[in-house]
Amino acid sequence: MSSVSPEVSKRRTFAIISHPDAGKTTITEKVLLFGNAIQRAGTVKGRGSNQHAKSDWMEMEKERGISVTTSVMQFPFNDCLVNLLDTPGHEDFSEDTYRTLTAVDSCLMVIDAAKGVEDRTRKLMEVTRLRDTPIVTFMNKLDREVRDPMEVMDEVENELKIACAPITWPIGCGKGFKGVYHIHREETILYQSGLGHTIQEVRVIKGLDNPELDVAIGDDLAAQLRDELELVLGASNEFDHELFLQGKLTPVFFGTALGNFGVDHFLDGLTEWAPSPLPRQSEEREVVADEENFSGFVFKIQANMDPKHRDRIAFMRIVSGKYSQGMKMNHVRLGKTVSISDAVTFMAGDRERAADAYAGDIIGLHNHGTIQIGDTFTQGEKLKFSGIPNFAPELFRRIRLRDPLKQKQLLKGLVQLSEEGAVQVFRPLINNDLIVGAVGVLQFDVVVARLKSEYNVDAIYESVNVTTARWVSGKDSKKYEEFKRKCEPNLALDGGDNLTYIAPSRVNLNLSMERHPDITFHQTREH
Ligand code: G4P
Repeated sequence: MSSVSPEVSKRRTFAIISHPDAGKTTITEKVLLFGNAIQRAGTVKGRGSNQHAKSDWMEMEKERGISVTTSVMQFPFNDCLVNLLDTPGHEDFSEDTYRTLTAVDSCLMVIDAAKGVEDRTRKLMEVTRLRDTPIVTFMNKLDREVRDPMEVMDEVENELKIACAPITWPIGCGKGFKGVYHIHREETILYQSGLGHTIQEVRVIKGLDNPELDVAIGDDLAAQLRDELELVLGASNEFDHELFLQGKLTPVFFGTALGNFGVDHFLDGLTEWAPSPLPRQSEEREVVADEENFSGFVFKIQANMDPKHRDRIAFMRIVSGKYSQGMKMNHVRLGKTVSISDAVTFMAGDRERAADAYAGDIIGLHNHGTIQIGDTFTQGEKLKFSGIPNFAPELFRRIRLRDPLKQKQLLKGLVQLSEEGAVQVFRPLINNDLIVGAVGVLQFDVVVARLKSEYNVDAIYESVNVTTARWVSGKDSKKYEEFKRKCEPNLALDGGDNLTYIAPSRVNLNLSMERHPDITFHQTREH
């Protein structure tokens, strides 16, 4: 126990993983409703109106209706303080999502019960596996005709290799959706349609054999429910907290986000069972959340969240200890001590000045270009948190100015955007080209839009003969120098001045790798 333990143990920090359209935005909205962060659902993202999710901030996102960036929402629930980290829905921004998943301690997996396990959920589950993140599951859209719940659970077990333990069980679906039976509380919670914008007054019937149940949902459905539950309880796993914490078993809840039904059930589960802030590995040692001394790492940098504040915010996950206003921190990479007087928190979706924040919380630091993704901050100890990846881009374009006088602005903008992890920029050693590398196509559009709005430069793309890139390093300095000389036409510096091999084709890359066995070609670069 330390002085920060009571606060730290209240924290639950999670993200939602799902396939686009499964209902992540709708769920976020309802979660905020329960967290008293908003009064009425529909204020987060009024589809068909001019309102948009608080988590969407760029004009482009609004136009395209996709969430390009990550933001953070903090709210109280039960006796906990919950941090929900939003992740971009579009797969072109998966790098952002991967890094955000390094900053959470658990995930909510949302599945469209009509569709079952979809592609992007599969990929994101692979990422959560890297750290065995505990997963809570919500089967959504029970107000529609969905697939047999048992079948969908089987699919989750087989495809995602995680055992399912139903905590609630649905009664009917579509127009005939009556609610759920809560297996742990041994009660039926009845659903009423059309009340999705508010927190519903629900009717609860205690006990499975209660004759009231027959009256409420009809004799036939009640009998069917009793039969089904006997089968389900026999055939499925019981909830096991240890296995859940190891990421091997997921508690499963059913409901409808649109109808705001079932959301509080999984929030109860999440606050009760999900871990409080977990330790993080640094290159030097493991750092535990309730250590007295403050430490944290930056997983995301974002610009221009609020048009009124044209600044850039570095999102830091606090790993241990406590942040208080005005405290001094050591920016480890630069070896500098900085005084942080105006960090922001994300209570209720609005930015507020953070008075205190604890391990598990996310704070935003105003960044004037000195902070990079992956940077560690401490109270003096030399630590470097590990495992925050940069992926080699797969798409490349040369970027060119319409107005050649703004070359300096363009370079500045590109380097800053690459520090944020939005894209990567490469400057070939042999010419003055600027090559932008991205993991997904949409990132290119974002860069041009942001260059225009934030740096006032008008840029266009041209195709370039690069198909893949690898960061290079070599232990033997003589061989490294020889490699640099021979391969100069294919070498470039990235935004952080790291040497990169940019290859016109896979064949070319493979040949170079064969020819220079003493050089290491890295597919990811740790920040
Ligand atoms: P996403 O962020 O995961 O992409 O999903 P989002 O919440 O935007 O939901 C995708 C669509 O699914 C939306 O419909 C939303 O209204 C709908 N939806 C979400 N949860 C439920 C649910 O429990 N039941 C039903 N029936 N639908 C649900 P849309 O057509 O894109 O928007 P709208 O025109 O319906 O507003």
